Amino acid sequence: MIHIEPTLELLGKPNRMLTIRALKRTQDQFPAIRCIGLYGIVLVVNKGGTAETRPFRPLFTGQKGLFLFFTGGIIMDKKLTYTFIGAGSMAEAMVAGMINSKLFDREQLIVTNRSNVERLQYYKQQYGVKGTNNLKDALEIADVVILAMKPKDVTAALESIKPYLTEKKLIISVIAGISTKSIEELLGLKIPIIRAMPNTSATIGQSATAISQGTFANHNHEAIAKRLFLTIGTVSIVDEDDLHAVTGLSGSGPAYVYYLVEAMEKAALDLGLDKDVSKELILQTIIGAAEMLKSSPKHPSVLRKEIMSPGGTTEAGLSVLEQYKYQEAMVQCIKRATERSKELGAEIENIMMKQ
Ligand SMILES: NC(=O)c1ccc[n+]([C@@H]2O[C@H](COP(=O)([O-])OP(=O)(O)OC[C@H]3O[C@@H](n4cnc5c(N)ncnc54)[C@H](OP(=O)(O)O)[C@@H]3O)[C@@H](O)[C@H]2O)c1
Repeated sequence: MIHIEPTLELLGKPNRMLTIRALKRTQDQFPAIRCIGLYGIVLVVNKGGTAETRPFRPLFTGQKGLFLFFTGGIIMDKKLTYTFIGAGSMAEAMVAGMINSKLFDREQLIVTNRSNVERLQYYKQQYGVKGTNNLKDALEIADVVILAMKPKDVTAALESIKPYLTEKKLIISVIAGISTKSIEELLGLKIPIIRAMPNTSATIGQSATAISQGTFANHNHEAIAKRLFLTIGTVSIVDEDDLHAVTGLSGSGPAYVYYLVEAMEKAALDLGLDKDVSKELILQTIIGAAEMLKSSPKHPSVLRKEIMSPGGTTEAGLSVLEQYKYQEAMVQCIKRATERSKELGAEIENIMMKQ
């Protein structure tokens, strides 16, 4: 059972010190505070499974300044139970992330699949989480149901779980290409759904995940999903329509980087560098550049220009990339992947609705 409790807290004038003091007080109260913002949502995550989000917004503005209050919020007074429908690689990445984060207990997680019993035993051995094919047991106790099967299996999976779902449960879907509307229609329930688009780096806890709300989901459901996906990387909130672009950008994104690395490896070998040495150099170059992008306030084009000196090596190299229209190729690549996501989504949903 999830309790949603409204909260109200007058903070006073929003001078920087006062706001920071107020946030500090929240931090003292909730030691594992995850994310704070000056204006926006404060997500408070306690060790041991309770969490609270506190959006805060201006109460009124006047000559003497602006008062802020915390409003809304969610208090979970019991540890939620998360049941995975599907026990493949995406489910495993999420289970591993949740267990490793120590924000969730093993007892909170249940994994089910269609028929692969060995796979469920593997989850038990590797993560200590319960695996079962008894859907009734796995779902009646569930607060959150995670759909983690391939798109072609959605119709059958939804049919089999439908008898055990209620509108009080939250569904989180990681299935590519299937809209929340289709799931709502197939289930025939006014059930809250959060749709997520993680990427393969989830397996090492480094996914760039985007999430969006279905018709019946609210910011509290979003907070539950956000907390979960934060254990496997970063989380961005987007409109569902934008998930196609997200798929083209960060869903397929790791492959673009691997492709770049393949080309760099080929060049290194052509130039006679040792394979292991070049691997280390390429890897650290990419990690270093990514860290630089993360920590520096400078735009990538500024960072690039800082490496280029007139008549130097970088300028010479990049002029070849320009000649081959590298940037234009990347832009078209992401646009085409986005388009393909739309095409595949429509194809999948067509098949699904006919099933
Ligand atoms: N892998 C990624 O990096 C990634 C990234 C973004 C999104 N996704 C999405 O995540 C979803 C899962 O992908 P995956 O790579 O984890 O797939 P996967 O490794 O093939 O696993 C699919 C799982 O679904 C189960 N399943 C199939 N039909 C079922 C049914 N009717 N009822 C219950 N369980 C059923 C399978 O069970 P059995 O083994 O018993 O058949 C299996 O455990 C896909 O929709 C994909 O679009 C994946």
